[in-house]
Amino acid sequence: MKEKVLITGAGRGLGYELTKHFFNHEYEIFPVVRDPDHADKLQKEFPSCKPIIVDITEDSSMEKIQSTVTKYTNVIDIVINNAGIPGREYKFEKVSISEMNEAIQIHCFGVIRVVQAALPILKNAKNPRVINVSSRLGSLTKMASGEFKKRKFAYSYRVAKAAQNMLSICMSNELEEYGISVNSIHPGKIKTRTAASDADLEPHEAAENIFKWVEKLEKGESRIYAEPGVGKLPW
Ligand SMILES: NC(=O)c1ccc[n+]([C@@H]2O[C@H](COP(=O)([O-])OP(=O)(O)OC[C@H]3O[C@@H](n4cnc5c(N)ncnc54)[C@H](OP(=O)(O)O)[C@@H]3O)[C@@H](O)[C@H]2O)c1
Repeated sequence: MKEKVLITGAGRGLGYELTKHFFNHEYEIFPVVRDPDHADKLQKEFPSCKPIIVDITEDSSMEKIQSTVTKYTNVIDIVINNAGIPGREYKFEKVSISEMNEAIQIHCFGVIRVVQAALPILKNAKNPRVINVSSRLGSLTKMASGEFKKRKFAYSYRVAKAAQNMLSICMSNELEEYGISVNSIHPGKIKTRTAASDADLEPHEAAENIFKWVEKLEKGESRIYAEPGVGKLPW
C-alpha cells in the first residue's frame, strides 16, 4: 500500500474519479461522502477504502473524520479538498446571503474543518500535501482582467473560491513550518453536475491530470495555483 489520501466529495464527479485513480495506483483512500449509498458503493468498488460519512458544513464532521481515520492510521499523506457546489445567482441584485453562506460553508469553512481534523496526523507524513480544488473563477487576477465579464457565473461560487484561494495561501505560509505544502488547483472545465457551459474534459481525464500533478509535487513545493496538465494560474 502506498500513501494515504483523504478525498472529500468522493461519491460522484471529480471526487469519485480521483478516488478510483488513487485506488488503482494502490493508495489507501479515506473517501469523505455525505450520502450513505455513496459510501456503500465506494466500499464495494474499492474494498480497501474507508469511507467517512459526514457533511463537511457541520462542525461535528471534524470529530468524525479524526476518529475514523485514526482508527486505522496515525499518518495522512495527502488531503484533497474537492467537495463543492456551483451556486446559482449571477445577477448582483438577486444574490442572497443564504446562498453566499452555503458556498462559503463548503468551499472555505469545509476546508478548515477537514484540514484541522487531519492536521495532527498530516504532521506525521514524510511529504504532507493539502490540495484545494479551487477554480479558475477564484482567480482575482483573471476576474479583474475582464476575462469572464460576459459569462453567467454565480457570485457565491466566485467569492467562495477566491476566499478559498486566500485560505490556501495563508495556510501554506503557516503550515510550511511543519513541512506541509498547500496548493490550489483549477481541475479543468469538467463535464460534471458543476459543469460550466464550455466544459470540455471528462472527469476521468481531469482526475488523471491531477493524479500525475500530485505525484510530481516535490516536498516543500507550496503556494502554487495551477491547472494540472496545463500550467500555473495567476492568483
Ligand atoms: N466541473 C467543473 O468544471 C469544475 C471546474 C472548476 C472547479 N471545480 C470544482 O471541482 C470540485 C468537484 O466538482 P465536480 O465537478 O466533481 O462537482 P459535482 O459532480 O457536483 O460533485 C460535487 C461533490 O461535492 C460533494 N459535496 C457537496 N456539498 C457537500 C457537503 N456539504 N459535504 C460533503 N460533500 C459535499 C457532493 O456530494 P453529494 O453527492 O452528496 O452531493 C459531490 O460528491 C468542486 O470543488 C468544484 O467547485 C469543478
